[in-house]
Amino acid sequence: MGTVATDYTNKVVKTDEIAEFSDEVIEEMKSHLVKYPEGRQRSALIPLLFVIQRERGYLDNPGVNFIAKFLDLEVTDVWETATFYSMFNLHPVGKHHIQVCKTLSCRIMGEPDITGHICDKLGIKVGETTEDKRFTVTRVECLGSCGTAPMMQIGFDYYENLSKEKVDEILDSLD
Ligand code: FES
Repeated sequence: MGTVATDYTNKVVKTDEIAEFSDEVIEEMKSHLVKYPEGRQRSALIPLLFVIQRERGYLDNPGVNFIAKFLDLEVTDVWETATFYSMFNLHPVGKHHIQVCKTLSCRIMGEPDITGHICDKLGIKVGETTEDKRFTVTRVECLGSCGTAPMMQIGFDYYENLSKEKVDEILDSLD
């Protein structure tokens, strides 16, 4: 029987495919498992999802199927977590994933103008990726840096107290 999962567009897709990983990556995953008490291995789900995302670029069905099997979970358990956190990508993203905080402090301090400026500069809309696959723009909930609003995260780096000029400098400096 096929596995049922939900993709980024909420379209139900079925696949039995299970991703394969190198011995090195499997060992890395096992190293996360041993951090938790016997019987509590599902607590390793989030670090393992980060590994899958790094290896496959985003959380695709075969990758999620692998984690479900690896942790002896239902596939829906894995998707419940994967779809809850904005740091997990459910579709391919560009080399530089720009996540602009859209929550209260950032919004009051000019997030809509900042997001609009980024989109105009890159020629894309929120949720889209540039044709050359370099940039993806998304709007996310509070990133915990409200005192330096407006802010955005690119990859694992925070950029704060943004202005249009600062955004230009940041984007122009990326390879
Ligand atoms: S509201 Fe933007 S970082 Fe908290």
